[in-house]
Amino acid sequence: MAVMNPTPPRPAGVAPTPPHPAGPASPAPGGAHTATGHTHRSDDQAELLDLEAEVLAEHLASLTAWLPVDEEPRRIVDLGCGTGAGTFALLARFPEAEVTAVDSSAVHLDRLRERAEALGVAGRVRVVRADLDAGRPELGRPELAWASSAMHHLADPGRVLRRVRELLAPGGLFALVEPAGFPRFLPEDAPEDRPGLEERCHTALADHHAEQVPHRGADWGPGLAAAGFTVVGERVVTVHVDRSHGPAVGRYALSGLRRLRGAAARALPAEDLAALDRLLDSEDPRGIGRRGDLAVRTELTAWAARRP
Ligand SMILES: C[S@@+](CC[C@H](N)C(=O)[O-])C[C@H]1O[C@@H](n2cnc3c(N)ncnc32)[C@H](O)[C@@H]1O
Repeated sequence: MAVMNPTPPRPAGVAPTPPHPAGPASPAPGGAHTATGHTHRSDDQAELLDLEAEVLAEHLASLTAWLPVDEEPRRIVDLGCGTGAGTFALLARFPEAEVTAVDSSAVHLDRLRERAEALGVAGRVRVVRADLDAGRPELGRPELAWASSAMHHLADPGRVLRRVRELLAPGGLFALVEPAGFPRFLPEDAPEDRPGLEERCHTALADHHAEQVPHRGADWGPGLAAAGFTVVGERVVTVHVDRSHGPAVGRYALSGLRRLRGAAARALPAEDLAALDRLLDSEDPRGIGRRGDLAVRTELTAWAARRP
């Protein structure tokens, strides 16, 4: 599952960076073109998605356990699957099911396939590379569709919601999971020399994100109803995962704050940028590698919607 990332401003003429935890609304299909540096960015994003999946694993398992399915689904699609946070949680929750994992990023799908092989579940996973904004990939007739942190990246999510309703078997369930925003990692009064730094970074990016990912943080209930679904459940999960969870928390915070720096650098005063650089410096005694007060804080909302 992905919570989302800050979307770096992109130079004119360059296709949008494939999103991770909160990238732009319309990623370049596949996002793997070395000429634009996409391979590197997709690799970074894939790593961030993997770390996020590790940090949020228990929350994802609790969401898949909550899904109000009438019968165990046998055919599942994971839309905007990324590196497979949802795919692997669903395979664990529904041991008889096969998952079709759909994403526009070849890098993410490769990673997902490798992990499926490593976990011995490759036979239960089919990957489909497709831009959900552009086409109508052949996805069979699933009883369960899942989309986590993916819908807000789409250019026309209303169209895709209608498409998902048509796709599902009658009585099938759509699980839509969305984060409130990019996670926070530092206490509000941190760091000591520039308290409130992290929040100022997000404020500096607010206009940019309102333009790039306008659907992020939306209430998806009305959109689901308008697409012909019956919303049968809604659940908010508050996430607070501290360092005692394991080393992934520190690595995820480092990776996430690096991306935040990349996105916000131009909009920050020099003192804030310097403080952010100290936090990201592994040699600096004030660096986040040495902070015991790091935690991943965010909120996820899940909607369960049935095709009548
Ligand atoms: C924030 S990530 C979430 C990944 C995964 N669902 C998770 O929870 O970790 C969003 C994913 O949506 C994919 N994506 C964004 N726009 C897409 C589109 N138009 N068609 C297909 N996939 C898309 C991205 O490549 C990325 O893997």
